[in-house]
Formats: sequence, structure tokens, C-alpha cells
Amino acid sequence: MQVMQAAFDPVYGEAWNHSQTRSMLAMPLTHTIVAEILPRPPEAQPGEPIGFSMSRRIGDEEELLLIAVIPEWRQFGAGSSLLTQVIENAKDAGVGRIFLEMRSNNPASHLYHKFGFTQVGLRKNYYKGADSKLYDALTLALTL
Ligand SMILES: CC(C)(COP(=O)(O)OP(=O)(O)OC[C@H]1O[C@@H](n2cnc3c(N)ncnc32)[C@H](O)[C@@H]1OP(=O)(O)O)[C@@H](O)C(=O)NCCC(=O)NCCS
Repeated sequence: MQVMQAAFDPVYGEAWNHSQTRSMLAMPLTHTIVAEILPRPPEAQPGEPIGFSMSRRIGDEEELLLIAVIPEWRQFGAGSSLLTQVIENAKDAGVGRIFLEMRSNNPASHLYHKFGFTQVGLRKNYYKGADSKLYDALTLALTL
């Protein structure tokens, strides 16, 4: 939850609260991966969580619900590592496609396009920011 609160810009209201997160984690086939910075030596103390992903598998499809890295650790490859692991786990489970939905002006698109996601849908004015501005939602998909 600390990473969630630090990572999402409150303007867009995209962070999930504790209750939403707990409910999703309790559902079967929801997967969370946590990225940590490990101390040296690694066994000296617990790692520091700096990012996470959460996805849900339904049949042979997976939906990437959330992926986040705290601002101080962005653009060092943690987001790519998380997404690589999501894709590898999905392949191992026989998943055929991964979907996600994102706000159209989210720079996270750089990460998704780097991994080969392409746009398959558009919902006009789907998100409403705290500033009452409306933003389109893009649905992206990656065929594995
Ligand atoms: C999206 C997010 C998880 C990316 O994490 P990250 O650790 O910075 O990702 P990486 O360092 O692996 O970067 C992946 C690629 O995207 C590029 N990139 C990432 N953020 C970028 C930005 N703001 N502008 C331009 N390029 C960006 C990186 O340069 C990199 O490309 P490269 O390998 O060609 O250099 C992170 O920005 C974040 O937490 N955003 C807020 C939460 C969010 O909106 N999540 C997505 C919706 S659920």
C-alpha cells in the first residue's frame, strides 16, 4: 500500500484503497509480484519494496490490473523486470493474451509498447481526474 500511495498521481485517482486491494488479493487467480531492493548481504535485513504488479488470470487470458514503481526508482528497469516476470508467468500458465487498460496520456505507454503491446480498444472520456478533466481509456493487448 505504501508503494501504491507513492506511485500513483492523486490527480487521476488511480490508486486502489486498502479495501479494494484486499478484496482483489483474496480472489483466486490474482497474482502479485513485488520488486524489492535487496540489502548487501541479502540476508542481513528484509528488502525494500519499490514496486509491484497485480494481475488476474481468467481462462487463457490475463488482465494486468496494476503495475507501479515508486518515483525515486523509476527508469532504472524495475517496471520492465516486473512486466517480464508477469509475461513469463503467464506463458508458463498457458495464457494466450494479456490485456490492460490505461489512461490515454499515461507515460506508462512507453513501457507497454516496448514489450509489444498494441492498442485494441478505446473508451472515450472513461476516466475522470480529481480536476474533473476527462481522459480516454486505451485497451492494450499482447499476444503471447
Ligand atoms: C509505468 C511504471 C511502472 C514504469 O516503471 P519504470 O521502473 O520506470 O519502468 P522502466 O525503468 O523499466 O522503463 C521502461 C521503459 O519505459 C520508458 N519510460 C518509463 N517512464 C517513462 C516516462 N515517464 N517518459 C518516457 N519514457 C518512459 C523507459 O525509458 C524505458 O524504456 P527504455 O528501456 O527504452 O529506456 C512507472 O512509471 C509508474 O509506476 N508509473 C505510475 C503508476 C502507473 O501509472 N502505472 C501504470 C498504470 S497501472
